[in-house]
Parts: sequence; C-alpha cells; structure tokens
Amino acid sequence: MRDANPQTIYLKDYTVPEYLIHSVALNFDLDDENTRVSSRLTLSRNPASQSKDTALTLSGENMKLIRINLDDGTNPSGADLHLPEGLWAGQPRVNDLSKDQYLQTQDALIINQVPQQQRFVLTIENSINPKANTALEGLYLSSGMLCTQCEAEGFRKITYFLDRPDVMTLFTTTLVGDKDRYPVLLSNGNKVAQGELPDNRHWVTWEDPFNKPCYLFALVAGQLECVEDRFTTQSGRDIDLQIFVEKHDVDKCDHAMQSLKNAMLWDEQVYGREYDLDLYMIVAVSHFNMGAMENKGLNVFNTKFVLARPDTATDSDYEHIEGVIGHEYFHNWTGNRITCRDWFQLSLKEGFTVFRDQEFTGDRASKAVKRIEDVNMLRTRQFAEDAGPLAHPIRPDAYIEINNFYTLTVYEKGAEVVRMIHTLVGTDGFRKGSDLYFERHDGQAVTCDDFVNAMEAANNIDLSQFRRWYAQAGTPVLTVQQHYDPSAQTLTLTLSQNCPPTPGQALKEPLHIPVTVGLLNKDGSVAPCKLQAGGETSPKAPTVGSRPGRINPPLQSLLQLTQSEQVFTFENLVEQPVVSILRGFSAPVKLVMERSLDELAFLLSYDSDTFNRWEAGQQLAGQIISGLIADWQSGRDMHVSPIMVAAIQQVLEQPWDDLSYFSLLLSLPSETYLAEQMQVVDVEAIHAAREFVLLTLAEQLEAKFQALYRNNHRDESGQFDSGAIGRRRIKNTCLSYLSKLENKHIYQLSQQQFNQAKNMTDQMAALTVIVNNPHPAKQQCLDSFYHQWQAEALVIDKWFALQASSSMPEAFATVQALMQHPAFDLKNPNRVRSLIGAFSQSNPLHFHAANGQGYRFLADQIIALNTLNPQIASRMVGALTSWRRFDEGRQALIKTQLERIMTTEAISKDVYEVASKSLAQQA
Ligand code: BES
Ligand code: ZN
Repeated sequence: MRDANPQTIYLKDYTVPEYLIHSVALNFDLDDENTRVSSRLTLSRNPASQSKDTALTLSGENMKLIRINLDDGTNPSGADLHLPEGLWAGQPRVNDLSKDQYLQTQDALIINQVPQQQRFVLTIENSINPKANTALEGLYLSSGMLCTQCEAEGFRKITYFLDRPDVMTLFTTTLVGDKDRYPVLLSNGNKVAQGELPDNRHWVTWEDPFNKPCYLFALVAGQLECVEDRFTTQSGRDIDLQIFVEKHDVDKCDHAMQSLKNAMLWDEQVYGREYDLDLYMIVAVSHFNMGAMENKGLNVFNTKFVLARPDTATDSDYEHIEGVIGHEYFHNWTGNRITCRDWFQLSLKEGFTVFRDQEFTGDRASKAVKRIEDVNMLRTRQFAEDAGPLAHPIRPDAYIEINNFYTLTVYEKGAEVVRMIHTLVGTDGFRKGSDLYFERHDGQAVTCDDFVNAMEAANNIDLSQFRRWYAQAGTPVLTVQQHYDPSAQTLTLTLSQNCPPTPGQALKEPLHIPVTVGLLNKDGSVAPCKLQAGGETSPKAPTVGSRPGRINPPLQSLLQLTQSEQVFTFENLVEQPVVSILRGFSAPVKLVMERSLDELAFLLSYDSDTFNRWEAGQQLAGQIISGLIADWQSGRDMHVSPIMVAAIQQVLEQPWDDLSYFSLLLSLPSETYLAEQMQVVDVEAIHAAREFVLLTLAEQLEAKFQALYRNNHRDESGQFDSGAIGRRRIKNTCLSYLSKLENKHIYQLSQQQFNQAKNMTDQMAALTVIVNNPHPAKQQCLDSFYHQWQAEALVIDKWFALQASSSMPEAFATVQALMQHPAFDLKNPNRVRSLIGAFSQSNPLHFHAANGQGYRFLADQIIALNTLNPQIASRMVGALTSWRRFDEGRQALIKTQLERIMTTEAISKDVYEVASKSLAQQA
C-alpha cells in the first residue's frame, strides 16, 4: 500500500490559497519517453491568506526535478527561459536554488524562503516520461499521439504547481518537437508564434487570454489530420472550428462538427452565451479515462464521442456524441469562465452542465424520450449509489481521492437539483438567475451556494431549505395518500417525505420538494386542478400549463412540499379524479402510492404528461413482474395477467408520431431497475420472470409485432431525422420481442437483417438478438462481424460488450476467452469497459453466478488494473459495492473478494477508498 492510511480531505478545512500566480510560461521539449518541462511562474503572496506559513508549497508527483530558479528582482538572472532556443543549456544559472533551499517530497516541492512583499519569478525545470504513463493522467501517449488530462489533479504530474481550481492564471505555452514525429502542436487559446529549429525541429507558442485554473490546461502533439468549419456568432464574430483525428478517421467527423455548431447556436438562443475565443479545437484520442474534457479552447475527447459514420455508429451513438459535444462546449461558460472554488463544488459545474446538455438534447430530438432516458439512468444507477455504502451528497464533504467523486450523484442528481430550481422559478426566472450568476461571477472560482444565491436574488425567493439538497445524501421517499369527498367535491392529497440514513448521516431534515400534479376525469379528459385558497402553493410558484384568462382552471399544479407531512386540497371536482403525480419526474424521489393495475392501465392510455404515461406502464409491468418473481421463487407456474397484455396491445393499436417514445412505451423495466425494487436481489428470478413476460407478449401479440416490423423496416441508412431513427427503434423493438419465440422464421429474419444492414443500428440490433439466442449461426455472425470491423476500434468495442452482456449460458466462458483475444488490451479503458465493465455492470445474471466465479474474475482484473490505471480500477470496484443487497451466500463471496482487493500490494488511493468504504460498517 502506498500509504497505510491515505489522508482524507475535508470541505470544512478549506482556506484560500497562500500564493497567487499572475502568469505562467510553460515550455515543453517533447519526447515520448523524456519530455522536458520548464515552467516560469510569476507569483506573489495572497493578501487574503491568513496563514502564518511563509514557505511556498507546490504540488507535484512522479517527476524528475532538474532545476529551480528564484528571481526576486534583486539579482536579475538575465536568462530568458521564454525562448525555445536558449532553453536547455545545462549549466547552472544565477539564482538557481541549492539543495538546502527547498525540500522535495513524494508529492510536493517546498521552497523555504520566498518574498512575502513583492512579486517574484520562480522557474522550475523537470522531466517526465509520457510513455510510461498508463494511468492516463498528466501527459501521456495514446496511439502515438501525446496528450494531456489534467482534471482533477493531473497537472501536478506535469510540473510543480498550485494545483487547485481557485488558483487561476494566464498561460503561455511553447511546444518544441520533431517535425515528423509531432507535426501538429496544440495548446489552449490562440497560436501567437511559430518557427523552425535546427535538427528537423519546430516550435509553436500558444497564448490563452483567459485566466484559468491548471486543470483546464491541455496540450496535444502528434500526427493528426484536421477537419475544419466555421461558426458565426450572434454578434457576428467568425469562429474557426477544428476537429483533429487520426488520418483514417477523417470521414467520421461530420456529425461531431454539426453537433458543435448546434450547441453553439443553442447556448446563444437559450442562455445568451457566446463563444469567446476565435478558435475552438476538439481532439479525439483512443485512450481516455472518461468521455471528454472541456480544456479551454482545446477539448480532448474519447474517440467514442466524436467518430461516427452511419455504418459504424448506432443512432444512440449519434445522440450521445451530440450530447457530449454539447456538454463540453457548455462548460465554456459553466465551468471555465466561472469555475469551482474547490473540488467539493464539482456539481456546480457538472450538475449544471449536465442539466444544460439534457435540455439541449431534449430540444434537438424528443423531450419526452430524453427525459425518460435520463430518469431511467438516475433510478437504476444513481438511486443504487444513494442507497449503498458510497452514498454522498451532491456536494460531498470529504474525500480521499477526488477522482472517485465524479459520480452519478454529483452529475445526475446534481442535474436534477438544478432542474428542481428550474421548476420552482420557471423558464424565465431561471434565465434571470443564470444571467445574474454569469454577471456576478465571470472570471471567478465559486461555490454551489453562489449559484443558489444568484437564483434566489434574481427571483426574490427563499431557497434556504432547498439548499439541503446539496448537503444531504440519500433518496427521499415520497408517500402520497388521497381522499375524495363527494359532498364537498374536494380531493385531498396527503404528501409525506422520509429519507433513509446514509453513511455519516443518521438523521435527515425535510427537503423542499417540488411536486407537479395533474388530475384526470374518468373519461380520460383533463380535470380542473385548482388548489383551495391557502392551498399551500407559494405566490412565486408558477402554475404550470395554465391557460391565460380567469375562467380556465389550471391544467396542473406545482405543490411545494417542505414539511415532513403536508395536506393539499383541490376543489370543484364533480367526480373522483385519477391523480397523475410527480409529473415529468419533478423531483429525484421514490414515489410510494397505492395504485391498482386498472388505474395504471388507465394512466398509460390517457395521461397527457408523457413522462407519467410511460411511468404508468413501467409500474404496471413492475407489479406484474414482482408477482411472477414470487411465483418463480416458490416454484409456482407463472401466468401473465391479461391486463398487461391488453395494456401493451392498446399501445400497439394507437397511432404514434414519436416512434422512439412508442418504443419506450413497449419496453419493460430493466433487470437492474427491477433489482432496485427488491428487498433481497434474486438475479435468476428477475431474469426468469421478465423473460416470461416478454415471451408471453411475443406469443400473444406476434402478428402485431410482425406487422409493425414490416411497416418500419426499410433502408434509410445515413438518415438521422427523428422519423428514420424512430422507425429503426420501433422495428428493432419488435425484432427483440419476436426473438423470444426462438423459431426458425425469426432466426432467419434476424440473420437477414444482420447480413443486409447498411447501418450500425440495424446490424447491431440483429446481432444482439442472435447472440442472446441459441441461434445456429451465432459464431459465424460474430466472426464475420469481427472480420468486417477489425480496423474500427469503436466497433470492436461493441463486439466485446455484446458478448460480455449476453444472457446465454456460455457468457462467462466467452468473457474469459475474450480476455486472451489479441484485440483485448488492459491498457485501453474503452476495451476494459467493453469487456470487464459490460460483464460486471450489464450482465447481472452471469456476473452474480452463485458459485462466485464472476466476483473472483472481477477482483483479479481490479488487482491487475490497480497498478496500470487506478481510476479505471476503482470504477470497476463499483460492481461489488452493492453486496449487501444479495443473499447471504453471495454476500460472503463478494465480501471475500473486496477483502482480497484490500490486500493488493501498493493499493492506489482510488481503489482503497472505494473498497474500504464498501466494507465499512453501515450507519
Ligand atoms: N470535466 C469532465 C471530464 C473529466 C472528469 C475529466 C473527471 C477527468 C476527470 C467532463 O466535462 C465530463 O463531465 N465528461 C463526462 C461526459 C459528460 C457528457 C457527462 C464524461 O467524461 O463522462
Ligand atoms: Zn462535465
């Protein structure tokens, strides 16, 4: 273990930086194995710091220190380290520090004496080895290209620095390197100078005119091709847009470029935000720990979120690319111009930016579909995190390794919290609030509180109780009871909230929860939704969807639950209405409300809220599957209620404009979501029950699925309008149902689709069906797919992931065999995620095999990854954290593997934190 007891960092210990950096000039003499860095910092004591310590402590790890030079102005050294030529002369210079003037530790450089009254210039030279860097943090090599990843604390692996987001400075970066090896030399900002050097070398200087923290620094050097376009901003400025990729990927950049232009326009239209440099660059790299990174003016992307061609990328890939390009672009204002004071405030930029990219995607495609997909992810994955040993608030108060806090909670729940503010203040109020936030804090490093303060001030509301969402972990349970009084013609809803304890937080305070409600008459028409006078809605809360004019009653209301329990009364109801509550999923809570199957089927037919309409179907299916799970567990025969079949039939018989939404209405809750609902997770019972429902529906509605398949199956490869995307989605949903019938006709149909497909959506959908069936041509199809696509890394990732998530009995043996496949590489995160990640996170049936082979396999890989890439290793531990949700046998097996992981030699902070917290006694 690197450190017997890794240190915990606390939010409460935050203090302002002791020194300020006014500017930095960086020089890189690039080499794959020995890159020399010189950093010339202009510093001064921070007058705001209360600290008595007069030493200067800079962070730095894993590097060779060559020289330190401190120029306080009294003894000018005359050495101009700014010029690339004179840079690397070996002899000592005036003002070089001697060994007794500084202390170099494992992770810091401490300079004992620095001027306290005036500015001084500190120059540090060091060297690093990018090729040996398999952790992919700092400067590393990816397929022959040098690139950086500095968020959160990677800059300290490049050179000694004040590596914290509230130290912002002006960067000038000079890159020097061999012309053939590194023809393209990129960094943040504008290219201000370049030149040639002897020995076939050249140099480029980049200057970023905006102050930024070092986590937004980037450099890229290598043999890259550039795809170019242009965007004219609302004020008429021309921006150069450049996407850099490897040569063979130049034909896969069109969609990313179009997405960037869409995002730029959207941010102008919706938030009034314009881009601020003359150049916007995106580089796609094949080795990347995350999805993408918003470095100022020079985004670095995982190739997965840039490259797309109709025959290589699915419709869902296309959608994700647009979303991620948007996300990183939106960070330019929410993250870069205004950044985080410290890493506890991560949700300030990530939660808000995820909210922005969700809305962007919703506006571009289907709002209903996007909302459902986001809620699905939140409820299956974030709710699990919130209920497990690693539960933390969206603004955590302690961490060992910050990389472990780029979580679903900080991101997805963080976005829900921003969305709730949006719901509370309305669209116009939210825009006023964001305008004020940008105006107040441009150029600053701020906190989540500053964001909420701006929303409060712009809307003249009180969000003090709402702030608890930032500090309290756990998913609140919202319980709803209803009572209709026919004589008074009123409906009362009693809402109560309760949040279970989470580690370190035994007791919870009530939260401020916005609950959107609508009422339906028995014939499916909209019932008036009018709260009685004094009916609890605050004057600021907009009544959503009400038509103008006084006579029309509101179509829906926004209830604000702030107490543990509150009663809301609706009037003028001549008959008992059906309640549609938590519309649009207006708060990230678990809703508990007793509903009959008939009532759910009714809402599935009539609810005007697209989210709740889908949700009614999910609950209906969920209730039915729960019953079947119990039957399966006690060995009874399973029978699917005719209500379920009739409900799906009814959906199938209606005309739908939005075919993607239609497909979602036909989809059953996932095995992972069903597991979330169970006391003790039984993966086999869940799988058996859910498959049984799919088979029953396929048998009883076969003709309808067949007809729908035929009506929507056509060759529209290369078309990405919502019509074509919807037709592919609904057709492939039908194919998936039909495949449950396991007959010759269906095998032919899927094989035919596989062979004839000219787009990846159809090819992949067919192969998925083939792999998850005892299809006679399975191996042949897998082989031909591999053969066809072996030159396309991202497609081969799909090939690995598909086999790893198969429900067929051979899945585990296949995974083991694939680990030995020549195309598998533990050093490539995309490959690790597609094989090990997919098996452990998307194959509950086989990963949780009762003999523990899945757990042992995963632990083996985590131990191997711990030294290679701690971030990826720690992400893989995620699949073991929910061990308390399983039966005793599996609990013991998982616990054994977690304990084994804890004994890993030289265990990283990343893995240590997740594994130790997983094993810790529960609160
Ligand atoms: N700033 C992050 C990327 C990041 C996070 C890099 C942590 C290094 C460490 C970026 O803006 C981000 O959030 N990317 C997401 C994708 C996004 C669409 C949610 C990612 O990489 O998964
Ligand atoms: Zn982000």
